[in-house]
Amino acid sequence: MADTDQDLIAAAIAAMDRAYAPYSKFPVGAAILDETGGIHVGANVENAAYPVGNCAEASAIAAMVMAGRSRIAKIAVAGGSGDLLCTPCGACRQRIREFGADNTPVMVCSPDGLQRVFTLGELLPESFGPENLD
Ligand code: THU
Repeated sequence: MADTDQDLIAAAIAAMDRAYAPYSKFPVGAAILDETGGIHVGANVENAAYPVGNCAEASAIAAMVMAGRSRIAKIAVAGGSGDLLCTPCGACRQRIREFGADNTPVMVCSPDGLQRVFTLGELLPESFGPENLD
């Protein structure tokens, strides 16, 4: 595995420690590799008004945008513990789609490391994106 992959996985796992998840007690971390090789991290931030909470992917995307970057070359998401994969939720698949492409790798991790790699196209086939509005 490439060094950048290892860095991305480690960053996503480390971000789990920054999660604010007092209600679900399910910390999630995300790390984005942008088009210049930069890494942007995020974690889930919950709220007493439950639907107002943010997913980790949304936090990482906000950090990427605020850093002036606009493409997701690769993303790692870390959460859970057992065999069950912590794949991005449906809304986050669409959020990743905005800045990614069908072939964008989504690395699904647990605190122990990488579990599986999907492409965004596998997770969100026949998707609607910015091109549809051109
Ligand atoms: N969560 C994420 O941060 N990303 C996902 O893609 C799946 C779910 C968070 C939301 C909530 O804070 C907790 O996991 C339990 O659903």
